[in-house]
Amino acid sequence: MSTSTAPHTMTASNTTPASASATSAGFTPAPGHTPTVLITGCSSGFGLDAARLFLDRGWQVIATMRTPQPDLLPRSERLRILPLDVTREDSIEACLREAGPIDALVNNAGVGMLAPLEGTSLAAARELFQTNTLGTIAMTQAVLPQFRERRAGVVVNVTSAVTLKPLPLLSVYTASKVAVNAFTESVALELAPFDVRMRLVLPGRAPTTRFGANAQSRMGGSVPEAYASFVQSVFAGVPGTKALTTQSEDVAEAVWRAVTDVDAPMRIPAGADAVAMAG
Ligand SMILES: NC(=O)c1ccc[n+]([C@@H]2O[C@H](COP(=O)([O-])OP(=O)(O)OC[C@H]3O[C@@H](n4cnc5c(N)ncnc54)[C@H](OP(=O)(O)O)[C@@H]3O)[C@@H](O)[C@H]2O)c1
Repeated sequence: MSTSTAPHTMTASNTTPASASATSAGFTPAPGHTPTVLITGCSSGFGLDAARLFLDRGWQVIATMRTPQPDLLPRSERLRILPLDVTREDSIEACLREAGPIDALVNNAGVGMLAPLEGTSLAAARELFQTNTLGTIAMTQAVLPQFRERRAGVVVNVTSAVTLKPLPLLSVYTASKVAVNAFTESVALELAPFDVRMRLVLPGRAPTTRFGANAQSRMGGSVPEAYASFVQSVFAGVPGTKALTTQSEDVAEAVWRAVTDVDAPMRIPAGADAVAMAG
């Protein structure tokens, strides 16, 4: 359990990343300090793999889940699993109180939605923004006082490569993620004087996580008749198994880089398709 109040300092250096330690390019923990990362949405997919990777590399990990499942990750003295629903202020407050000081926040929790706009209720759009956009803003706001006071810390927001290119049936989802890109790049400017960093990870399409099924279920069978053949043609055009895709591990590595490499760019595409889209 992390009880340390002596945080790392982050300095630019040419150190080669050490794959099995908390020390990495540009990230120099203070002597005796094991840095702590808090990751949202660790019950599956990218969040679960990112938690695993930070544990493997010697960090203290606070893996948060709406419904904590203790057996998903290997047992470790450096692992804590805490309940967190990013849409609820009381849940955020309780989680951060329990977490204590942290060095990095990864806003990964998110939900998808695949539907024509005319088949999307405003209630569904609000719910999506509550998680993807306002959840990220709320979590960021909640950790900033400790980062600013310590003049150290990094917030990594997981958005999507769909923000790089307009795609049909993803209007509300893309809007929720583009908003996070703009939010992150703007707030990064006001945090730079306090040595607090913000970064974006933009994953490509990862068919192996639960995300696609969740997004499709949000169609709710409500495709208006006028869009039926269009929707069918979009599904028929979904790239086959040989197309470039993203693996969950690609995203975990990109998150690691975003947290530990002070020289990493603001936007880090994750996965072969995302890298291709970013040009
Ligand atoms: N997979 C893709 O193709 C893809 C591509 C680009 C970007 N992304 C983004 O990557 C992130 C992770 O996606 P993934 O593929 O790993 O999907 P996933 O397997 O569906 O995981 C999403 C995670 O978010 C959690 N979550 C949902 N609503 C939450 C809330 N209100 N509070 C806290 N946690 C919540 C889920 O928890 P529960 O188990 O409680 O639902 C789950 O742990 C998302 O932000 C997504 O938008 C995904």
